[in-house]
Amino acid sequence: LPKLGILGSGSGSNCQSIHDAIRSGALKAEIAVVMSDNPDAYILERARSWGVPAEVIDCAGFKTKFPEESQEAVAARLKEYGVDCVCLAGFMRLVKSPLLQAFPSRIVNIHPSLLPAFPGLHAWEQAVHAGAEESGCTVHYVDGGMDTGPILGQARVPVLPGDTPESLHARIQVEEHRLYPAMIARVLETLE
Ligand code: GAR
Repeated sequence: LPKLGILGSGSGSNCQSIHDAIRSGALKAEIAVVMSDNPDAYILERARSWGVPAEVIDCAGFKTKFPEESQEAVAARLKEYGVDCVCLAGFMRLVKSPLLQAFPSRIVNIHPSLLPAFPGLHAWEQAVHAGAEESGCTVHYVDGGMDTGPILGQARVPVLPGDTPESLHARIQVEEHRLYPAMIARVLETLE
C-alpha cells in the first residue's frame, strides 16, 4: 500500500477524513506518520488514538517560518517512514525546497477557497468580507508558493446571506472532507 505522511497544525479533521476513507476502503493507502509543528495540535492526538506515529516538528522557535533545517529533518523522517506522498492538512507553514526536492510532485495541499481566489490565511473570512457569492475548496500540488501549484480538483459551496466566517468555513469543510481523500486517491494512481 502507498504510504502517506500527513502534516498539520490544528484539529486534523481533514486527516480524520483521510483515515476514514482508508478504513472504508475508498482510499487504498496507509498513514505512515502524522507530523505537526504545534505540539498541542489535536491532529497528533487523533493519530495516537489510531496507533499511528505522531511526531512534533522542531521549528527552532520560529513562530511562522519553516526553517530549512527543519524541512530537511522532516524530509529525512518522512523518508525513514517510507512515505510516498505528503499531504498537507491544515499545515500553516510554507513548504520550500528541501522538502519539495525530496518529494517532487508528491506533496499536495487542501485550501479552503476556490484558488486562485483568496490564498493565504483565513480564506473563508476573506470570502465573507469580500462579499463573494460562492466559495469552496481546492486540492493542489505544492510548488513553494503561497497556495499556488497545479490544481487537482475543487468543490464549490454557496456563500449564503447571513453567513459568518465560521458558518462558511463549516460548509466548506464538509466538502473538504469529501474532496481531499478522492484527490489523494487520484495522485496515488499516478505514482503506481
Ligand atoms: C482546513 O479548512 C484547511 O483547508 C485549512 O485549514 C483547515 C484545517 O482544518 N488550510 C489552510 O488554510 C491552509 N492555507 P483541519 O485541521 O480540521 O483539517
